[in-house]
Amino acid sequence: MLIRIPPPHPVRENDVAPAPDPAVAQSLGAPAERGEGEPTNGCVRHRIRHGRRRFVGQSLAGLAGLALAGCSRAAPAAAVNPLDSTDPTVLKRLAPTQERGMAGGETVTPIDDVARYNNYYEFGVDKGDPAVNAGTLRTRPWSVDVGGECDQPGVIDIDQLIPYNRLEERIYRHRCVEAWSIVVPWVGVPLAHLLARFAPTSKAKYVAFYTLYDPQQMPRAGRVLPWPYREGLRIDEAMHPLTFVSVGMYGRVLPNQNGAPIRLTLPWKYGFKSIKSIVKIRFVERMPETTWNLVGPDEYGFYANVNPNVPHPRWSQASERRLGELFRRKTLMFNGYPEVAPLYAGMDLRRWF
Ligand code: MTE
Repeated sequence: MLIRIPPPHPVRENDVAPAPDPAVAQSLGAPAERGEGEPTNGCVRHRIRHGRRRFVGQSLAGLAGLALAGCSRAAPAAAVNPLDSTDPTVLKRLAPTQERGMAGGETVTPIDDVARYNNYYEFGVDKGDPAVNAGTLRTRPWSVDVGGECDQPGVIDIDQLIPYNRLEERIYRHRCVEAWSIVVPWVGVPLAHLLARFAPTSKAKYVAFYTLYDPQQMPRAGRVLPWPYREGLRIDEAMHPLTFVSVGMYGRVLPNQNGAPIRLTLPWKYGFKSIKSIVKIRFVERMPETTWNLVGPDEYGFYANVNPNVPHPRWSQASERRLGELFRRKTLMFNGYPEVAPLYAGMDLRRWF
C-alpha cells in the first residue's frame, strides 16, 4: 500500500476475480465436478487438494460441534470445541439463533470467490496465496489473551470465549480499500458481548487487537509488514451493535485464509481493519498503533471508514468492483451503514480518515 512496501492494495481496473477452482469450490460446498480418485494437474492443484481434504474435515467437524453447542441450551456453558465432533447427523441442525440480512438484500458473493481471493499477508501477498498456504495455521488449541484497562483480564480458550449457543448470522457488505467488495454471510457474535465479560474500566478508551505471529506456521510472512498484524477501535466503535466477531461464514467454521478461528468483521470500514486470527486484545487509554497506519500514515488512517468523498492519495474511493460483477458500482458512505454516522458526529472525516 505504501510506495516502498509491496502494496496489498494496488487498484487494477482490469483486475478480474480468479476463475473458481473446482477443488476449492467443492471443499466449500459446491457440487463435485470430478471424482476424488481422478488425476489432478500439477503441483498447485495437488497442494490445493490436500488443503481441501484438511479443510473438509475441519468444516464438517466444526459444523457438528457448532450444532451440538447450539442445540444443547440446557447444558451449562461448557467448552465445546467445534472441531471435536464428527457426527454427521448433527450437521443439519446447525442454526445460528438469529439470521439477519444486513446488506440491503444484495446478492451474496459465491463462497469460492470469498475463500480464494484474500488478503492475509502472513500467508503471501497475492490474492490466491492464503487459500493455498494457510493450511499451516493451527487453529486449535487457541486462546485469546485479554488485558489492559479492565477488571477481569484473562487468557481464555476460544471455546470458552465463544457462546456457541448464541451465534448469529449476519450478511454484511465488505469493502476493501483496494476498491473490490463482497457480500458475505458471517457467523459469529457482536464484539460487545465478548468484551463485556472482561469488565473494561473507564480508562479503556480504545481496544487493540493482535494477530498471531508464528514464523513456523507462517513461513511466508517474511518482512513485508511489521508483525504481528495489529488493529484498533475506539471503545464506542468496538461496542457498536454492528461490530462483529466472526468464527464462521456460509454456515461453516471460517477457512484459515479468512481468519480462522476468530476475526473482526467491521462492515462500514475498509477491510484492513477486519483483523484475522486474533490472539491478543488490550483495552488501552491511547489510540493504539495499527499496522497499515504504521507503514503508511498518509495513506491509511486509524478510522478507515469507507468514504467515497475522501480519495486515497493514489486512487479514488468513489466506486468499487463487486467480485463477480463486470461493471463498477458507486461506493456508499460508511459502505451503506448510516447507523454508524453518530459515532463520528462533529469529526472532520477528511482529517480523521
Ligand atoms: N489480518 C491479518 N492478520 N493480515 C492481513 O494481511 N488483511 C486485511 C484484513 N485482515 C489482513 C488481515 C485486509 S487488507 C483485508 S481486505 C481483509 O482482511 C480481507 O479479508 P478476507 O480475505 O476474508 O476477504
